[in-house]
Amino acid sequence: MQFDLTMTDELLATTRAVRKRLDFDKPVPREIIEECIALSQQAPTGTNSQGWRWIVVEDADKRAKLADIYRKMSGPYLEEQGKIAEESGDAQTMRVLDSAVYLAENLQHVPVHVIPCLQGRPPEGTPVVALSAMMGSIFPAIWSFQLALRARGLGSCLTSLHLFNEKEAAELLGIPDDVLQIALLPVAYTKGTDFKRAQRPPASDIMHWDHWGT
Ligand SMILES: Cc1cc2nc3c(=O)[nH]c(=O)nc-3n(C[C@H](O)[C@H](O)[C@H](O)COP(=O)(O)O)c2cc1C
Repeated sequence: MQFDLTMTDELLATTRAVRKRLDFDKPVPREIIEECIALSQQAPTGTNSQGWRWIVVEDADKRAKLADIYRKMSGPYLEEQGKIAEESGDAQTMRVLDSAVYLAENLQHVPVHVIPCLQGRPPEGTPVVALSAMMGSIFPAIWSFQLALRARGLGSCLTSLHLFNEKEAAELLGIPDDVLQIALLPVAYTKGTDFKRAQRPPASDIMHWDHWGT
């Protein structure tokens, strides 16, 4: 099979964290969410564990409550990060934070909240090798899910701030104690589909060949 590299690279390079361009008014069909989650199941997992679990929240009252839970920590956290970015003159991060504040204020309006979870919880002192295998067995699937959404005209943003109050979200959604929430992805159709590449340093700046420092 010959991949269309222009399309493939465009998908990989322009799947952004979408916040201000989420369409709050256009309903998202359940089939699309299920199709994208099915594609995400092709992602790798440590020892073929396949421990992905997903809870998809459409109910407006529950989305409003999740947004309240998210905002408990998003305010102080984003404010602190804003000060740091301003002091260092980091314009890109300041734009990201402005967009993050918008999302926090409007999270309840996003038609679908998707919470990827993992069966099992790491005990205190879990070694790095096990932590890596655990988190590395869900983030590839999350990214595949986001890419599949983008290819269908939808957008999302990987968020983690509701996890400061993970237990409250678990109680709201009936998630058992031995299930670990990993993130919350607001999902909607996007207003327009023309997203740009972000500015990043050249790859050579972050690479080493054969020996650290070369
Ligand atoms: C692990 C992780 C946690 C994140 N948590 C949040 C979050 O809580 N809220 C938010 O608005 N964005 C969150 N983001 C999105 C980042 O801010 C975003 O990816 C980054 O600014 C780069 O933007 P881009 O993805 O469009 O290139 C998170 C991203 C990652 C990978």
